[in-house]
Amino acid sequence: MTGTPIGDDIVAGLEASPKWLPSKYFYDGRGSALFERITRLPEYYLTRAETAILESNAESVVARCRPEELVELGSGSSRKTRLLLEAMHRSGAGSRYVALDVSDDALRAAEEALLADYAWLEFAGVVGDFHTDLAAIPRRGPRLVAFLGSTIGNLDPAERATFFPQVRDALQRGDAFLLGLDLVKDVGVLEEAYDDAAGITAEFNRNILAVLNRELDADFPIDAFDHVAVFDKVSSWIEMRLRATRDMVVTLPPLDLRVTLLAGEEIRTEISCKFTREQIEAELVSAGLGVEGWMTDGEQRFAIALAMPVGP
Ligand SMILES: C[S@@+](CC[C@H](N)C(=O)[O-])C[C@H]1O[C@@H](n2cnc3c(N)ncnc32)[C@H](O)[C@@H]1O
Repeated sequence: MTGTPIGDDIVAGLEASPKWLPSKYFYDGRGSALFERITRLPEYYLTRAETAILESNAESVVARCRPEELVELGSGSSRKTRLLLEAMHRSGAGSRYVALDVSDDALRAAEEALLADYAWLEFAGVVGDFHTDLAAIPRRGPRLVAFLGSTIGNLDPAERATFFPQVRDALQRGDAFLLGLDLVKDVGVLEEAYDDAAGITAEFNRNILAVLNRELDADFPIDAFDHVAVFDKVSSWIEMRLRATRDMVVTLPPLDLRVTLLAGEEIRTEISCKFTREQIEAELVSAGLGVEGWMTDGEQRFAIALAMPVGP
């Protein structure tokens, strides 16, 4: 887990009605490992679709912006990133890779795996929060910023309206932003992707409570929560929630917090927005980013947008 203190956002979330928790707290070592298992599940089409897009397009993306460095936000295992790094290496573009993630466990594992295979790679791992820490990464020349894995879906519209301009500010003319997006589709397909038959996503969801129990000496009875995943058509997002199966009082001593939950009450742990091209293009354009490329998988389940700064 990151060295960032955890607290204020948790108090805000657990005192709100309905209750919520910030999804970045899923990702301790166990949470990151569970997410990796999710990416291999038959129901979770997202990673396979995004990988297929990168397999077909990494070369042309790199040719378009010739980056000296690849900066990836929420890099996780960096598995798909290999396709971009290899394309950079083949084309003689730069060999610097800056991976920013809230999970130092994930960063350490990614660094070890990448350096074992790529002797030429210059790896820099940054434990940080992509909401606040992008501007602090020094620019070493033409750069490609990647935000893959549909992580953008975890940001609500107000958060995206702050985030995209920050990405724009981290880019200069000729730089590029590569954004992986899950597209609106059949509700059944979406809900199954977040509620798999093997129960791995349920385990991942409950892990956020294990993190709070460990980091904040909290006493959430983890087995007394059901995993819930529903598509909210109005907001166009999947909501993952944890539903209390009985009344309970939970304490988080370092935060001086006592939380009462009634049987059936839910805590929202994640949203995962589903996009249309029109919507995301409009958001990027209003942040000063023009969409120069739109790549999808054969079944149009997932898209990667290539955006570049416009204006002075
Ligand atoms: C959905 S996973 C995607 C991982 C990887 N990019 C992929 O495509 O498979 C989200 C990743 O973002 C990281 N993360 C979540 N919230 C974050 C935040 N606020 N700042 C930095 N990293 C964050 C998690 O640790 C995790 O590795």
